[in-house]
Amino acid sequence: MEELYLQWPDRTRLQINSWDKVRVEVKPRSIVFCGMGGSGVIGDYVYMLSYTVKDYPPVIVVKDYLLPEFINSNDLVFIVSYSGNTLETLSCFYKALAKTRNIVVIASNGRLIEEAEDKGIPYKTIPLNLMPRTALPDMLYAVLGVLDSSGLSLVSLEDAVKALEFLASNTKQAVEEAKIIAEHLYDRIPVVVTTSRFYGLGFRAKNEFNENSKVPVKVEILPEWGHNDIVGWEYNGRYPWSILTIHGVNDSVSELLMEFTENYYKQIGLPVKPLILSGNNMLEKLLYGSLVVGLASVYLARMYKRNPAETKSIVQYKNMLHKISHELIKPR
Ligand code: PA5
Repeated sequence: MEELYLQWPDRTRLQINSWDKVRVEVKPRSIVFCGMGGSGVIGDYVYMLSYTVKDYPPVIVVKDYLLPEFINSNDLVFIVSYSGNTLETLSCFYKALAKTRNIVVIASNGRLIEEAEDKGIPYKTIPLNLMPRTALPDMLYAVLGVLDSSGLSLVSLEDAVKALEFLASNTKQAVEEAKIIAEHLYDRIPVVVTTSRFYGLGFRAKNEFNENSKVPVKVEILPEWGHNDIVGWEYNGRYPWSILTIHGVNDSVSELLMEFTENYYKQIGLPVKPLILSGNNMLEKLLYGSLVVGLASVYLARMYKRNPAETKSIVQYKNMLHKISHELIKPR
């Protein structure tokens, strides 16, 4: 599993080769991302990348089997599922088909690819035989390529290539950082704290520790944290929590908020480990941070002697969903 993360800089080059393979002719009112788990996170990452881009269409993230009712042919819908068979995502695909032809499918295989071929919907494929969560850069680059080629650029091809070079030259540092984080979180319940600009990375970290290390995790986002969660600690600092703070934004307000939060946790006796994201821009920071938390979750699994690749409970949940698939999926 560790190897699937360490391959990121090399493997993602395949998506560079097919960067402009799919382009759409639409000036969308909004861009909607449908997907779950490791595939759903792609929408969060595009949202974070778009946050500071002036006049960019609003990015809507849907992690559900229902599409928001407002969606129509003015919107562009990305359907992202590594396996191509996730039922909530298939449900959104069929619901989107009823409203618009502005759809792009991203998957490795499965029913989504079959349906896209059958219905003439543009699609991009991701390499087979990866765990969905380890295919984060592959799926993200597939999407960024479509956007860049369609006049909706968030990242240019040149910057996408540079980010992979950056990741390659910082992999060793990421491995070291990940080992320290795994030690910090061992035998404790992780709490991941970050600022709203990096909310998607905070949740990505949670999902990685859930799925690979098999631990429950709490995520808190600043500044909202200071308006509710902060009170919850007044009597609960004695439990074995361990705090991981993720610093990405360099502005002074953000740093002061983080400093206050870290001191608050330290004062109630909880250990705090800051992860300072390396990178020259948002994409590089997101890739670097994702690599660090991914590797840390695998190292933590190792310390607990757990198999990071096995997700029995997700299989159990998906088996239940299959039993009710006639309710969920209504092909057109
Ligand atoms: O990382 C994982 O294995 C999960 O979070 C999956 O991504 C999730 O179950 C959805 O499956 P898929 O990515 O195949 O649509």
